[in-house]
Amino acid sequence: MRESRRLLVTGGAGFIGSNFVHYWCQRYPDNWVVVLDALTYAGNRRNLVGLEERENFRFVQGDICDRALIDSLLQSEHIDTVAHFAAESHVDRSILGPEAFVQTNIVGTFALLEAFRQHYETCNSSGVFLHVSTDEVYGSLAPNDPAFTETTPYAPNSPYSASKAGSDHLVRAYHHTYKLPTIITNCSNNYGSYQFPEKLIPLMCINALIGKQLPVYGDGQNVRDWLYVGDHCSALDVVIHNGAPGETYNIGGNNEVKNIDLVQMICQLMDELAPDLPVRPCEKLITFVKDRPGHDRRYAIDATKIKTELGWTPSVTIAEGLRKTVAWYLTHRDWWEPLLSEEYQTYYRQVYVS
Ligand code: NAD
Ligand code: TYD
Repeated sequence: MRESRRLLVTGGAGFIGSNFVHYWCQRYPDNWVVVLDALTYAGNRRNLVGLEERENFRFVQGDICDRALIDSLLQSEHIDTVAHFAAESHVDRSILGPEAFVQTNIVGTFALLEAFRQHYETCNSSGVFLHVSTDEVYGSLAPNDPAFTETTPYAPNSPYSASKAGSDHLVRAYHHTYKLPTIITNCSNNYGSYQFPEKLIPLMCINALIGKQLPVYGDGQNVRDWLYVGDHCSALDVVIHNGAPGETYNIGGNNEVKNIDLVQMICQLMDELAPDLPVRPCEKLITFVKDRPGHDRRYAIDATKIKTELGWTPSVTIAEGLRKTVAWYLTHRDWWEPLLSEEYQTYYRQVYVS
């Protein structure tokens, strides 16, 4: 029988964190789950709908940089497992304002590690600190380069990826030096329900639904390896339960697609699934816009290690996952409409109109 875990999930009101919490509470209903989230622009309590009523679930609004708060949560909630998702996560925002990225991603991760280091001695044998990171730490690939493995040298190119790389190094060092049971996962681009509108797939879905341009950066030939968020959650499940402390696991979807092809796929799904599109065919809205500074050309994950060592493979193809995701944005206007706030419009103008 598995031990019943007590999890602290940082960033659990964001996109991946909330999908993870839904997944975990359904799969392990006897586990105790505490979500710690600062509710930045990207955090949304409505992502946790249906969970807050549970007896073994608690939401705490707070900052991962607040050491006293973390100390008290780890202790009072008898936490044995930290699943660390909290981060500033959007490359374009990191270009506009890198400071918050250094603060949350590096200083915040440091605070969590220090708190867990003090607390760890009181944990049972299942104690683990899972650090959720990104493939962007490995830099950019040329079209025929082999995919990133766990031993690919770090070469981050944006303030976002540099801050995630910094946090990865700290996590690694805390295992090496203090023997903390840390595990790092580096995953590719996620997509699915509850993703904030600024990211490529929700942005295209929402803009299509409101008849706004679909802005493709540069020549649209950049490649990303798309991972359905449900697959990501099942990968993190096997890593938490069976991953080896001190190890890194790459997680990818085996779905390399050029941006322009992905946007075309979204347009076709919109034409098929959305009866009241303001502009049809939807691809009339596609507009090539100026490129993102330092835009990485290609990311691709070699997920052999997690497959051979932990038996995990992704199960959702991009065609299936995209259909589900487009359908979700179509039927959850009440979720995304309030997110197109004044703050979002200001951000949007800074990136797309200048
Ligand atoms: P997100 O931006 O949707 O959510 C981040 C969450 O963290 C939000 O709820 C926010 O309120 C919270 N947060 C931010 N700063 C905080 C702070 N100082 N203290 C407490 N909470 C804070 O991000 P996401 O897409 O869900 O990404 C989750 C993790 O996965 C991140 O670490 C990110 O680097 C990593 N990741 C994401 C992707 C992707 O495609 N989305 C890919 C690879 C890795
Ligand atoms: P994004 O979702 O921001 O993820 P990341 O930059 O972390 O990979 O972007 C995915 C890809 O889509 C990336 O190559 C940038 C591109 N992109 C556009 O072409 N237009 C857009 O409006 C956005 C947000 C992204």
